Amino acid sequence: MARRRQVYEGKAKILYEGPEPGTLIQYFKDDATAFNNKKHAVITGKGVLNNRISEYLMIKLGEIGIPTHFLRRLNMREQLIKEVEIIPLEVVVRNVAAGSLAQRFALEEGSPLPRSIVEYYYKNDQLGDPMVTEEHITAFGWATYQELDEILNLSLRINDYLLGLFTGAGLRLVDLKLEFGRLWEDEDMRIVVADELSPDNMRLWDARTNERLDKDRFRRDLGNVQEGYAEIARRLGILPEAGPRDLKGPEAIQ
Ligand code: TMP
Ligand code: ASP
Repeated sequence: MARRRQVYEGKAKILYEGPEPGTLIQYFKDDATAFNNKKHAVITGKGVLNNRISEYLMIKLGEIGIPTHFLRRLNMREQLIKEVEIIPLEVVVRNVAAGSLAQRFALEEGSPLPRSIVEYYYKNDQLGDPMVTEEHITAFGWATYQELDEILNLSLRINDYLLGLFTGAGLRLVDLKLEFGRLWEDEDMRIVVADELSPDNMRLWDARTNERLDKDRFRRDLGNVQEGYAEIARRLGILPEAGPRDLKGPEAIQ
C-alpha cells in the first residue's frame, strides 16, 4: 500500500497530497481542541460527521455561486479539495451575542445583535489568534484591500444564506468562522472558501429551546458532543438512520 505524502497536520484535520497536481486530500480527525489547544479530547465519530456536514454546506454554497475549495467527498473521513494559498485570517460573523463577544461587552448570551458583526482574527496559534483590524491586515500584507473587500462580501453572503438554510432546519446560526484561500488558475486569482464548515466552527442552537448543539458542548463540558453534531446532520437530512457509520463513499485513496 503506497503511503501518501502528508502536507500538513492541524488540530482537527490532516492534509495529504492529492491524486492530481493542484489537489489535496483533507482528512477529518476525531480530535477536538479548545482554548488554543489547552483542552483536548477525542470525540468518536466527529470527523465523519464534520466531513459530511462540510461537504453538504460547501455544495450548497457552490449552488448559489460562492466559490469554495471543495471538489468531492472521497469516503467517510476524506474529501478532495483544490489546493489554495490560505489567507491567515479567521473571519467571524456574528448574528447573536455569544462566546467571546458576549464576554467582552458583558452582553447576555442569546441577545440578538443590531446587525451582523464581522470580526477578523490573525490565524496564528503561537499568538493565540489575536483580533485584528483592516489596518493590521493590509499593513502587514496578510491580504490586500481588494481581497479584504471580496472576503467581507463573501462572508456576509454566506452568513445570509446559511441563516436561512439553518432556520429551515430548526436551527439558529448564532455565529460562524470562515477561512479563505487564493486559488490560482493560470494568471488569474480567485478568493474561495477554504477549511471546513462544521459545528466545530459555528454555533448552532435549537431554534425553539436554544439548546447548544455545536462545539460549545465540548468547550463548556456540556456532554454528548457527538450527539449534538449528529442531531445537526439529522436535521439537515444528511444522516442515514443507522448513524454516521452508514455513510457511503468510495474507498480511501491510498
Ligand atoms: P468566539 O465567540 O469564541 O470568538 O467564537 C466565535 C465563532 O468562531 C464560534 O462560532 C466558534 C468559532 N471559532 C473557531 O472556529 N475557532 C476558534 O479558534 C475560535 C476561538 C472560535
Ligand atoms: N481553535 C481553537 C483551539 O484549539 C478551538 C476553538 O475554540 O474552537 O484551540
